[in-house]
This record gives sequence, C-alpha cells and structure tokens, in this order.
Amino acid sequence: MSVKENNKNPAETTVKEKKQLAVKLIPVHIMGKRYEVPEGLTIMKAMEYAGYRFIRGCGCRGGTCGACGTVYRKPGDYKLQVALACQKTVEPDMYVAQIPFFPANRAEYKFTELTSASEEVFGLYPELFRCVACNACTKACPQGIQVMDAIAALKRGDISEAALLSFDCIQCGLCTSRCLGELAQYHMFQLARRIYGARILSRAEHLAEMVKAVEEGEYEEALEKLKGMSEEELKRAYQEREVEPVSAGEDWRPKDKRYL
Ligand code: FES
Repeated sequence: MSVKENNKNPAETTVKEKKQLAVKLIPVHIMGKRYEVPEGLTIMKAMEYAGYRFIRGCGCRGGTCGACGTVYRKPGDYKLQVALACQKTVEPDMYVAQIPFFPANRAEYKFTELTSASEEVFGLYPELFRCVACNACTKACPQGIQVMDAIAALKRGDISEAALLSFDCIQCGLCTSRCLGELAQYHMFQLARRIYGARILSRAEHLAEMVKAVEEGEYEEALEKLKGMSEEELKRAYQEREVEPVSAGEDWRPKDKRYL
C-alpha cells in the first residue's frame, strides 16, 4: 500500500488532508508512462489525477455520450480490452491508452433521397457482408448491445430489427475497433435508426396534433405571459408547477388541462 507523501508537521494536518493521506495509490501506465493514482478512480479521473487534461475524448462523464473510448491491457493478459474511460475503474498495473476518435468509414448520403429499402444500406455500406460473425463487436460493446445480431439483421435486410437492437448505441466506436471485418457498425446502425424513425415507424398522431396547435397559436398567450415575468416570478412558477408523480401511469393528466 502506498500513500501520498507529505512533509507537513502532522499536528497541522487538516481533516481533508488526513483523508487524502489514507488514500491507497496503485500503479497504472497511461499512454506508456507509469503513474500512481488513487484506487477506485475511473480511468478518466485517474488520467486527470496524473495531469492529463481532456480536450477531446470526454463529454458527459456518465456513460452516455460515447466520447471516451479507451483500450487497456491487464498485466499477464495478452488480450486487449476496451471500455469507456468514464465508467471503467483503474486496476493495478493496467496499461491504458485513449482513442477519443476512431477513423471509421462513414458513408455520405442525402437522407431525403433515401427510401426504406434494405438496398440503401447495402449500397452505402457494402462492407456489411464482410462480417464473419466472430461476435467480437458484441463483447466490446459497453452498452450490452447484441451488435453481431443487429448486423445479421441488416444483412437480412431487416432495418427495423437492427434499429431496435441498436437503440442504446452511444456511437463510441469500440465495436469497430475490434471488428475483424473492418465494419463501422455504429454508423450502419445510425443509418438504420434514421430510416426506421423517418420511413418505417408510423407517425405519432398526438405529435402532429400538438404541432398543429403550436402553429395555430394556441400557446401564444401563455408564452407571452411567461416572457413578461421577472426572474423571481419565473422561479416561483417553476417551483409551484404540478409535477408528474414518479408512480404516475400512462393516463396521468395535470389538473390544469388548458395546455393539453
Ligand atoms: S464521457 Fe461520455 S461516455 Fe464517457
């Protein structure tokens, strides 16, 4: 166990510093250089602790933006692993390198000219058929998506299935980084979800009704009223608003139905 060194007179040590002194440090290798970082940190925080400053490769810090793809290897293991730097915690002696951008093929297209035919995907991403079904993509996915199954759906021409299976994709590119066939699965899935949302999924009638109401000026008066409020009045209105209970069902409606 190692602790941070401190030359101060112990009598002058503050409670915060005492906590810091008790932190266990572990060795990690970041971009090929050895550092000692507190145990339990995420790779991202460990890198910042070691002095790195993120300009790219960091966004939400919560595992949803996909910006922080990272490769690492543990001592004694030949296998290269992948993870999100903001989610994976450091382990002793791990070797870490970040891949904030993965140079994968992304097809160019004018979406308005695309139909829902599976040939659209085949034409834009013919490499789809290079998939050898090794499943490395699924194992690499930090979102637990059945990546290989979604690719198989695309190969069958089932855009809907691919879109639904890949719904939780955060575009981190880690599947692509491990793909033997050099597929950019996440870009293919994005295309599938776009086609599914715009060309296959039936229109939401309530949304069309609401857009019509907005266009017809149904909310103008309420908006004008809000615009005329002071900051204090806005804060009060926000705090006093009726909030939907966590346990509310599908049929929940607010008491004030003027804007429904
Ligand atoms: S910073 Fe957004 S997923 Fe890690």
